[in-house]
Amino acid sequence: MSTHKRLSFDVTINAANEKINLEIADPGNISADNLALATWGSSEILANVLHKLDKPDLSGCGTLSRTHHVLELGAGTGLVGMSAATVWHTHAHLTDLTPILPNILANIALNQALITKHSGSACVGLLDWSDPTSPVYPFDPTRTQPFPADKARVILAADTIYSEEHPELLTGVLVAKLERSEKARYIMCYPLRVGYLDHIRDLWGRLQEAGLVCMKEGREVLGVEWEEDTPYEWTVWRWGERLLAGEGGSR
Ligand SMILES: C[S@@+](CC[C@H](N)C(=O)[O-])C[C@H]1O[C@@H](n2cnc3c(N)ncnc32)[C@H](O)[C@@H]1O
Repeated sequence: MSTHKRLSFDVTINAANEKINLEIADPGNISADNLALATWGSSEILANVLHKLDKPDLSGCGTLSRTHHVLELGAGTGLVGMSAATVWHTHAHLTDLTPILPNILANIALNQALITKHSGSACVGLLDWSDPTSPVYPFDPTRTQPFPADKARVILAADTIYSEEHPELLTGVLVAKLERSEKARYIMCYPLRVGYLDHIRDLWGRLQEAGLVCMKEGREVLGVEWEEDTPYEWTVWRWGERLLAGEGGSR
């Protein structure tokens, strides 16, 4: 996986090739899960793929239906979640482990005016993949109640498969948090590095066994400034018909 210390990222937001520039504060002295906080290659790829996908149907999401519009797992510096809020003009909930959350909050504040201009919004919460059924707690000392939503219409994840535990953990989060509906989508991106291929295969197998079906996939490479030629794969998943009809999905 490659990281970048850039302080801003261009993200294409529509078919007319309109770009926004998202600012990213990346203090470099924060870490969680043995990783220093950074913006990873998959994030830049996925942020720039969102506008090419069919816009998810986010109707009916919100507090009343207890369904997040968009939930990002392992958000890191928040590039993908903030891009989703802007590209899809929606509310994105960016989650990660506790040490990472203050910086995501700071990055949302840096880009608040831009996100709002595009009719989006974003917030931050704790979601530890090893505790997938817990409600998402907000990163806000004045709020002790969990967010009043327990499912998500769209789940996003960039560069979240880099150890052998991750396929099982991520599948557990999807089973717990992805809304069981034909409108629900799981969208992820990862580098196709030799060292991670077994984990990626394992994850695909587990997602399929859980009842998810890959409906779209693509490959991209990063711009020259990243100085690497690794291909990155992005995939879009939905629940299969059998699962929605009440069968299958053993995990
Ligand atoms: C390689 S970084 C990717 C960050 C960001 N998505 C990006 O692409 O720039 C992996 C992220 O997953 C988070 N993470 C790792 N294990 C986690 C867990 N058990 N629960 C929640 N987040 C986790 C890390 O804190 C980190 O932010």
